[in-house]
Amino acid sequence: MSATPQKTRKWTTEESINLYGIDRWGAEYFSVDEHGDIVISPNGTEEGPRVSLPKIVKGMLDRGMNMPVLLRIENILGSQIKALHETFAKAIKELNYNGSYKGVFPIKVNQQEQVVEAITQFGRKFDHGLEAGSKTELIAAISILQNRNACLICNGYKDAEFIDLGLYATKMGLQCFFVIEIPGELDLILERAAIIGVQPKLGLRIKLAARAEGKWAESGGDSSVFGLNMSQIIHIVDRLKNENKLDCLRLLHHHLGSQISNIRDIRVGVMEASRIYEELVQEGAPMGHLDLGGGLAVDYDGSRTNEPSSRNYTLGEYCNDIVETIATVLDKSNTPHPTIITESGRATVACYSILLFNVLDVSSYTPLPIPKKLPETSNDLLENLLYAYNMVTPEDIQECYNDTFFYRDQARQLFEHGQISLRERAIAEDLFRHILIKIAKTAAKSEHVPREIQKIHDLLSDVYYGNFSVFQSLPDVWAINQLFPVSPIHRLD
Ligand SMILES: Cc1ncc(COP(=O)(O)O)c(C=O)c1O
Repeated sequence: MSATPQKTRKWTTEESINLYGIDRWGAEYFSVDEHGDIVISPNGTEEGPRVSLPKIVKGMLDRGMNMPVLLRIENILGSQIKALHETFAKAIKELNYNGSYKGVFPIKVNQQEQVVEAITQFGRKFDHGLEAGSKTELIAAISILQNRNACLICNGYKDAEFIDLGLYATKMGLQCFFVIEIPGELDLILERAAIIGVQPKLGLRIKLAARAEGKWAESGGDSSVFGLNMSQIIHIVDRLKNENKLDCLRLLHHHLGSQISNIRDIRVGVMEASRIYEELVQEGAPMGHLDLGGGLAVDYDGSRTNEPSSRNYTLGEYCNDIVETIATVLDKSNTPHPTIITESGRATVACYSILLFNVLDVSSYTPLPIPKKLPETSNDLLENLLYAYNMVTPEDIQECYNDTFFYRDQARQLFEHGQISLRERAIAEDLFRHILIKIAKTAAKSEHVPREIQKIHDLLSDVYYGNFSVFQSLPDVWAINQLFPVSPIHRLD
């Protein structure tokens, strides 16, 4: 007797794209080609090069390198910076905004030397600068950033050494801004500036009443650790006036938090900051720069919603809303439009690095076949499980599901009390899996599936063993406790 060949339908690359959500999280950079391989378009466009990831892996293996590998696609950094600047430039032109846009990269988001270097290199054309939140970051920024038109934003706690470094950077011609986060910093900056003989550019970090929802909500709002409240701002303005130094005040800064998923939160924050900016201009400060911090979110899950792992806006909407909000607030008092600064971190780097690792082994969920004859036992556990298996029908699906878990737990208890053997427990657990598989198949053909059973595939998953260490190979440190796309890179057809 010959076996009847099973008719199988051909799996398509479109189905893989859909299954792994590649078109949703992959932005314009990742897709699947006709061979079922993941391909990267580093320019983020249909035109330009497309590189197959499996071919890159083959090239690495041929050269004697082993997985896991952290692959950095530096051109993606360039494409992201270009997109940010071009989209702001378009909004500025379309909305007749009279100021310009300057971006900075916050080094804390990815401190790798090659990343910061690549960003400054790609960003040179756009005068893209750097943000330093600590002394070491400032040293790195001064040594890398040679563009005199780019901004160097100094946030974070500043001691005398930090301030001296920034003042020397100013002397060298860099556009260095000291953003005052706590009132006490002002005295030290003025004192060191007088000693070194430099006119410092000062900024104020404000504590907005506005808050953004999400994991970083604490970065904004009244109770945020960072920034100055309104009376502290007035106090600093008065101090600067008394010292005849108000002309040093050039920038207003706020940071509502990272990964702001709702565009409304961004708008509300920009509106409040614009009003404070307007008042500072009316107090006589030259100002000229409004720094909106980070927050531009990444759509990790591709849902385009205001869920924490997504965003409910496009880059175009982000730029338009910011430009329009600032202009609307300031035009009422004919306040000149400032240079807009943003400190986009995750949105710049999220797509550019990939952790590649090989799968060492698979632990399959598939159970051994049901024995033709069940072993004789002192109880009817195995018979009950077999009965439940034979009884799976669309009508009784929930009852079978409940029974099978009951018997599985009973098998464990009987084993603990020495009433069934290891072999019998193994048969019971295989029968349990057979029942779940049959329930899943039955559910797939049913119209109304109970909620609990909709999640049955999580229980039926195979376990893949990947050769990598999360701690050593994290491609993006901001990925901790966040959704992170995972996909095979070949055989997607
Ligand atoms: C002051 C400041 N600017 C910018 C960023 C970067 O934010 P994002 O990665 O959301 O762009 C951060 C990160 O927390 C920050 O604290």
